[in-house]
Amino acid sequence: MDRITNKLPIILDSDPGCDDAVAIMLAAKHPLFNLQVITVTAGNHILEKTTQNALKVCSYLGIDNVPVAAGMSGPIIRRQVIADHIHGENGLGNIDFDEIRIRLDHRHAVTLIIEILLESNGDITFVATGPLSNLAMAMRLEPKIIPKIKQIVLIGGSYQLGNITPAAEFNMYADPEAAHIIFTCGRPIVMIGLSITEKVLFKKEVAARIGSIDNKAATLFTKVMDFYTKSNKRIFGHEVSPLYDPAAIVYLINPSIFTTKLMHVEIELKSEQSYGRTNCDFYGLLNKPANAEVVTDLDSERFWEIIDKTIRLYGRT
Ligand code: BDR
Ligand code: CA
Repeated sequence: MDRITNKLPIILDSDPGCDDAVAIMLAAKHPLFNLQVITVTAGNHILEKTTQNALKVCSYLGIDNVPVAAGMSGPIIRRQVIADHIHGENGLGNIDFDEIRIRLDHRHAVTLIIEILLESNGDITFVATGPLSNLAMAMRLEPKIIPKIKQIVLIGGSYQLGNITPAAEFNMYADPEAAHIIFTCGRPIVMIGLSITEKVLFKKEVAARIGSIDNKAATLFTKVMDFYTKSNKRIFGHEVSPLYDPAAIVYLINPSIFTTKLMHVEIELKSEQSYGRTNCDFYGLLNKPANAEVVTDLDSERFWEIIDKTIRLYGRT
């Protein structure tokens, strides 16, 4: 917590992305946060599109007090993979937006992450809702940033099934070597992975409740969730769509509604079939030191309450 502002300083690193857009929406408005920068990476789509999407969301919602910077245009080692089959041809549910009003910060996201962390006094939480390329590259370029990070709250991984291969979750699979750098960096990590698939469900009641809010944030939320729901039904057969990225922000707003288990997590880098899998030692079989708190459950009612309340903060349009 920043002692002067009494707010939680965060860096939000994302690859918008339908659910990333909701994470940005929450992080920029909730009074708990001092959102220092939105850094963008390639992931759900190529960097050009994820960057445009971040700028579109910020322009539409009037988020003009937070720098937006573009970072890594692809993974550190592997061949690039994107998730346009889920997020659409424009990477953001094929939604039309008015003209982009927010200017892109001219600095590279990796440089900015390094600068911000070096100048900080160790109180910044790094929130990642996409592949971990930007933070991994920043750590390799300037290892002095590592002890400056208070904690890393990331969306990704799975101790159960994968969603891009049978073994791997998309954000980890999209840059496994970057994920390896993060999971071996020694800083506290909260991993919010696919275990929430059956917990955070965009049920009809939730859609109706948030859909009835009369403001731009609710309109955007409804549009992205409409598209995302259809993708999830088509690809995974989910009757009710899960929602991932906003969970990182909700976790920081109220960690007590999440259940976590401390364990050792290693990224699979050698196997062809399981490349990018988060091997989670759920039962402590390996006797290796724990390096992540892995989310295993959450209180979904209170989760949606937080989303609802935060969207209402945007006020009526
Ligand atoms: C993650 O993959 C992306 O497609 C989503 O934006 C989310 O970050 C879920 O596996
Ligand atoms: Ca994402």
